[in-house]
Amino acid sequence: MAYNPRDKWFLKAKEENFAARSVYKLEDIDRRYKILKPGMKVLDLGAAPGSWSQYASRVLGEKGRIVGIDLNTVEVDLPNAVFLVADVRAVDMGALMLKAGVSPPFDVVMSDMAPLTTGIKLQDQERSFELCMFALAAADRFLKSGGTFIAKLFNSQETDVFRAELRTRFKRVEMVKPPATRSESRERFFVGLGFMGGAKAAKTARTATVDVAEESPPPG
Ligand SMILES: C[S@@+](CC[C@H](N)C(=O)[O-])C[C@H]1O[C@@H](n2cnc3c(N)ncnc32)[C@H](O)[C@@H]1O
Repeated sequence: MAYNPRDKWFLKAKEENFAARSVYKLEDIDRRYKILKPGMKVLDLGAAPGSWSQYASRVLGEKGRIVGIDLNTVEVDLPNAVFLVADVRAVDMGALMLKAGVSPPFDVVMSDMAPLTTGIKLQDQERSFELCMFALAAADRFLKSGGTFIAKLFNSQETDVFRAELRTRFKRVEMVKPPATRSESRERFFVGLGFMGGAKAAKTARTATVDVAEESPPPG
């Protein structure tokens, strides 16, 4: 079927005031695994334009907290979220959060990060895998014991490598292709449930620093 950028998910997102159709991927994952709950603290990697944070914000309520990080500015304004502009591959996320006044650990670390696609399949897959490994390094550092991890990966030969990495850290690992993912898309979502601790934190954590811009005041 021909690619239609204004498909039913796009129109539904517009109607329901979500910043992107991606929201229905998170909604599907959340419905399957009952991940988000009122009062939770969530780290949203690749947060722009903001629909995952919008969804989480509604579920978490006023006692919940979201920290969103993206290369791009998030324009949505949410009372329980702070958005930071940074490259997760180059920033010390711990220092970044400290500067923004938010403190780990998080109940959920979720990543919808995607590289700018080049059309060169192998390169795009490698970059997607790299982003997933940075998201996993963030989970190693900042996820609570028992917490949940969600990450988008372009399906490739690295899929099994990533699954194996997750299995060393989570009690249960699932892979999902939500209905809002286009049928021709290679994207898959990994869900890690029951974090068993940051055994590999030292190996994967990054400490490089870059200047960051804060877009909104910290939620406390
Ligand atoms: C599919 S979009 C995320 C959509 C978002 N979940 C939403 O619902 O609105 C992917 C995002 O990943 C971000 N991204 C890609 N590489 C990144 C990096 N190295 N550091 C931070 N964000 C990155 C992109 O800027 C882009 O906004």
